[in-house]
Amino acid sequence: MRVEIRGRTIACDDTGGTGVPLVLVHGFPLDRTIWAAQVRGLAGVARVVALDLPGFGESPESAGSGADGAAAPSIDGYADDVAALMDALGIGSAVVGGVSMGGYVAMAFHRRYADRLRGLVLVDTRSGADSPDARRARDAAAELARAEGAPAIAAQMIGKMLTPETARDREPLRRALLGLMGAQSVGGIVRALAAMRDRPDSGPSIARIAVPTLVVSGAEDRLIPPDDARALRDAIPGARLVLIPGAAHLPNYEQPAAFDAAVRELLARL
Ligand code: MLT
Repeated sequence: MRVEIRGRTIACDDTGGTGVPLVLVHGFPLDRTIWAAQVRGLAGVARVVALDLPGFGESPESAGSGADGAAAPSIDGYADDVAALMDALGIGSAVVGGVSMGGYVAMAFHRRYADRLRGLVLVDTRSGADSPDARRARDAAAELARAEGAPAIAAQMIGKMLTPETARDREPLRRALLGLMGAQSVGGIVRALAAMRDRPDSGPSIARIAVPTLVVSGAEDRLIPPDDARALRDAIPGARLVLIPGAAHLPNYEQPAAFDAAVRELLARL
């Protein structure tokens, strides 16, 4: 479905129902379909909402993706979009989950809307800001996207998204992921790279998280390794860590049954 927020359109899936709302934010350079298994598998225990951030999937690019609609893209602006979508869907408070860049958005949501948060699911993500080298790599990736398009970004990233075994033995899954990344808009990619490059350090704020928090990591993630997940678990009061074997950067996509079981356990604790 398409929802008007802050003068623009956000595409989302909303399973409806009376369960606790679970709002899922995709990573880079992906869209809400990365949560397809969760939209199906968790609909019986939660009202699952998966959205496309501006410039990804079916959400058009927007000049106003910054915080409070400002022009510069920002992770805080994406968090504002999540809150505005919740308003539009009549959701007061929710469990917010995000994978990687989506996790940055979930941590920003906590900073900006702690009173609307019932729980957190932080998947293959980290709290720290970009290092100078990482910031330079964002700019190089933006140049590549502008020069050669999304497929070049997809080709650069695919090798780190899945375990070598999955890449070898589950070709349809690998090909679908490559196609998904390669289909994203260059504008959305460039704006997201700037938003990630300039995101603040969430280290100080995550120590104040006061809702049940599940930290998940693919045991074989090389992009954001399990040590980052352990650091999140140690920094967030009461957080629980689940490492998913046979998964790299996208455990919800690569091992959905194990991932969903961990989320069900969190929802049961609420
Ligand atoms: C993602 O998967 O969302 C990105 O790899 C995160 C990042 O580049 O920091």
